[in-house]
Amino acid sequence: MKYEDAVKKLSAYGQEHVLRFYETLDEGEKEALLRQIDEIDFSVISALGNEKENIKRGVITPLAAMRADEIESRKEIFREEGLAAIRAGKVAAVLLAGGMGTRLGSPDPKGMYDIGIHKHVYIFQRLIENMLDVVREAGCFFRLYVMTSEKNDAKTRAFFEEHKYFGYDPAYIAFFCQDNAPTVDFDGKVLMESKGRISTSPNGNGGWMKSLERAGLLQEMHREGIQWLNTFSVDNVLQKICDPVFVGATILSGRDSGSKVVRKANPEEAIGVICSEDGKTAVVEYSELSEEMRYAKDESGDYAYYYGVILNYLFSLSAAEKVMNEEMTNHIARKKIACIDGEGNAVRPEVPNGCKFELFIFDLLKGMNGCLPFEVVRNREFAPVKNKEGADSVQTARELCRENGIEL
Ligand code: UD1
Repeated sequence: MKYEDAVKKLSAYGQEHVLRFYETLDEGEKEALLRQIDEIDFSVISALGNEKENIKRGVITPLAAMRADEIESRKEIFREEGLAAIRAGKVAAVLLAGGMGTRLGSPDPKGMYDIGIHKHVYIFQRLIENMLDVVREAGCFFRLYVMTSEKNDAKTRAFFEEHKYFGYDPAYIAFFCQDNAPTVDFDGKVLMESKGRISTSPNGNGGWMKSLERAGLLQEMHREGIQWLNTFSVDNVLQKICDPVFVGATILSGRDSGSKVVRKANPEEAIGVICSEDGKTAVVEYSELSEEMRYAKDESGDYAYYYGVILNYLFSLSAAEKVMNEEMTNHIARKKIACIDGEGNAVRPEVPNGCKFELFIFDLLKGMNGCLPFEVVRNREFAPVKNKEGADSVQTARELCRENGIEL
């Protein structure tokens, strides 16, 4: 991008200060900054001005799930349908691995974390082992797309290679990098990481379809006849991936999507709740859940918003493609963001000084033609490794692995 075009683009968004130190940069830095300005979508910043409008919700009511006992009684029918789709190459997996292991105190990609006791058992390895169970059952490999972020892409790829893809056929694995969003101060002015670089952060786990498209992978999926994507988080070491029973139940439900859900352990548990919003299936994230919803009871005295999502969804590819081009909400997180001030001095804030913009994957559901909430038994399929200690920690995940006969 030329300097004049950068000025034009920035002034359209009131961000001319980004070029404040331009003349002090060397040629390489100038070029890199212009490239970054060219690549960044500054329109997300408008979410700050429309925050109230953005997070305004429709009429929310509780939603029942297909219960685990019902699933158990129809399991074989679902399994056959799911296996047939997998064998026909219609199902692929998408691992959302853009996050870092920060909460675990690790500077590495979260999937590199070792939960082993007597041997190494990395989180990525556990996920691949779960996929290999299905490969054995179906008698064929299925595609895995791994979403990384700018900060962890190289390390993630190198780690998989070093560990020989944990026994998965590398011909079936592709990596792609998620997009970044600019960070801003509370007045909506873009923060600078240094004189020649805009501060950015990964744009949340809801940008995965757009990032797949940018990487040219959606065309590849169509060429191969893929119709369903099982998208899942990096941190749940017990989850089944491309679970034939879940795939079959969703296909047979005739809906565009399915979501694995668990009964919430308690009203305060940090998981998004599945509900109905203006008649469509939706999720309210735990960070945006009101006290009223958290503790609401139904007529039998049970908690009304009972089912939480474990971040394991099945989407029809064509429906997800349609929705990704419709408006997705930019959620705003107020954070401490290291940056430079107007004089170019480093700022290391001790309280939040700015905002990050994030898209949430479940916002795709609102545009879909139905979603099947599919209950799984939490002790068998939900062992998230989020924290170093306490709830959802390495320790609780290890105990759940042991309970399920997994050697660590
Ligand atoms: C997430 C879900 C929550 C669910 C819970 C279950 C979202 C927005 N939140 O919460 O509804 O109940 O898991 O454990 O879906 N990621 C990226 N790029 C990003 C941000 C995140 O790839 O920019 C990935 C992470 O690597 C991880 C997943 O998304 O695989 C979840 O991210 P995290 O921020 O840990 O979500 P939670 O707050 O735990």
